[in-house]
Amino acid sequence: MLLPSMERTFAMIKPDGVRRGLTPEILIRLQRKGYRVVGLKQMMISRELAQSHYAEHKERPFFGELVDFITSGPVVAIALEGENAITGWRGMMGATNPANAAPGTIRADFATTTGENVTHGSDSPESAQRELGLFFGPGELLS
Ligand code: RTP
Ligand code: MG
Repeated sequence: MLLPSMERTFAMIKPDGVRRGLTPEILIRLQRKGYRVVGLKQMMISRELAQSHYAEHKERPFFGELVDFITSGPVVAIALEGENAITGWRGMMGATNPANAAPGTIRADFATTTGENVTHGSDSPESAQRELGLFFGPGELLS
């Protein structure tokens, strides 16, 4: 039976994380935590998908750089399931700026700049649903 707090969220290993060989480390961390991987693929993100994914930031001065970066190499797209997975995965990632990220978080342990901060995680149930739908087709997720 699904617990009421069972959630699905969208996680991503960004191009810097893939380039630096951090994919296994990050997959180990989230599975050790107890999350179930219900979708997983390595892929290139098109500029169109990048612009949709980060649409909330389209007026921000860093938007162009963000799209250039996220399309600069393969990413690993992950659908995660677990109790309170949305905020839980955000907690494991740490603050957006690695300088402010708590010790032991992914961004504190593996990143030094806000622009290249290794992972993404949906920030709300609405974002999770929207982002899972952008990255995974109907038949691609485990039930
Ligand atoms: P993400 O969406 O990638 O999981 O990161 P986040 O929620 O922690 O941060 P968000 O505010 O959504 O920003 C998305 C990504 O844009 C880049 N950024 N640069 N130069 C800047 O001030 C700035 N602010 C944000 C970061 O790469 C951030 O992860
Ligand atoms: Mg965000």
